[in-house]
Parts: sequence; C-alpha cells; structure tokens
Amino acid sequence: MQIKFSEYNTPAELSDIERKLIRKSQEIISSSYSPYSNFRVGAAVLLENGKIITGTNQENAAFPSGLCAERVALFYANSQYPTTAVKAIAISASGKNRDFTSQPISPCGSCRQVILEAQNRFKQNIKILLYGKEKIIVLENSQDLLPFAFTEIS
Ligand code: THU
Repeated sequence: MQIKFSEYNTPAELSDIERKLIRKSQEIISSSYSPYSNFRVGAAVLLENGKIITGTNQENAAFPSGLCAERVALFYANSQYPTTAVKAIAISASGKNRDFTSQPISPCGSCRQVILEAQNRFKQNIKILLYGKEKIIVLENSQDLLPFAFTEIS
C-alpha cells in the first residue's frame, strides 16, 4: 500500500475553493474553547451542496469530555445535512503565541476514523487539507490517513 499526499509551500498554489476552505478553518479558530491546552484548532468542511461548515476544538475540565475541531465540524455537518456528501476538510491550528503553526497538524486517530466513515458512508473521497505556515499537506483520499481501518462489524 502506498500513501499518497502532496506538499505545497503556500495557499497560492491551491485552487480557489481549497484556499477558501483553509481560510474558513483559520477564521473560526478564535471560537476555540481550549483553556486547558491553549492549543486552538479550526476545521472547515466542504459539502457536496457547496456549503462550508466550520468547527473548533471544545475542551472540558473533565478532559475526555472535550472534542476535536474535526469531529465538531463533521458531526454538525452530518447532523444538519444527513444526506449530503462531504467533499473536503481543512484543518488549521495555533499554539500559545496565537500564531498559526509552522507545520501542519494532522487529525488524531479518532478523527481519522470519523472522517473515513464519512467518506465510506457517502462513497465519495474526502480531500484533507492540513495547513501550516511553512507547508500545506493535501491528501485526496482520507483512507491514506488511516490504512487498514476498522470499517464494519460483521
Ligand atoms: N485537537 C484537535 O481539535 N484536532 C486535532 O487534530 C488534534 C488535537 C485538539 C484537542 C485538544 O483540545 C487540543 O487540540 C490539544 O490536544
């Protein structure tokens, strides 16, 4: 199995919609509720109908009760538009200095599982855009983030 991804230096190298999706993931980041980690994450989900749904990480004093930005955005998108395929998700993050991370951040294992389920559910590849100031990584197929994934109970 080969994992396919592309690397870019700036958003200028991407398409208009890819740039827009990254920008949306950055704009929403100020609504992150992350007083415990001080690590803010923004996610923007592009739907088949052209709508963009955004989300941020939401933390809790009982740590495991919080949720990552990716799942906040995806679960909300799938709740509002349960029959609409997800086409892409962009993710940006900023640390204590409030500046975007130099390197892209990559979804945690649980978020990968959820992104892949959305891809399988609507039978349409989900493109993943991971933003960093010095590098942007793009994966055309979310399967590449979770090889040998668990997919069904038989
Ligand atoms: N986090 C995300 O929201 N997405 C990721 O891809 C990685 C981590 C959040 C969880 C927690 O609120 C904070 O970042 C630090 O781990």
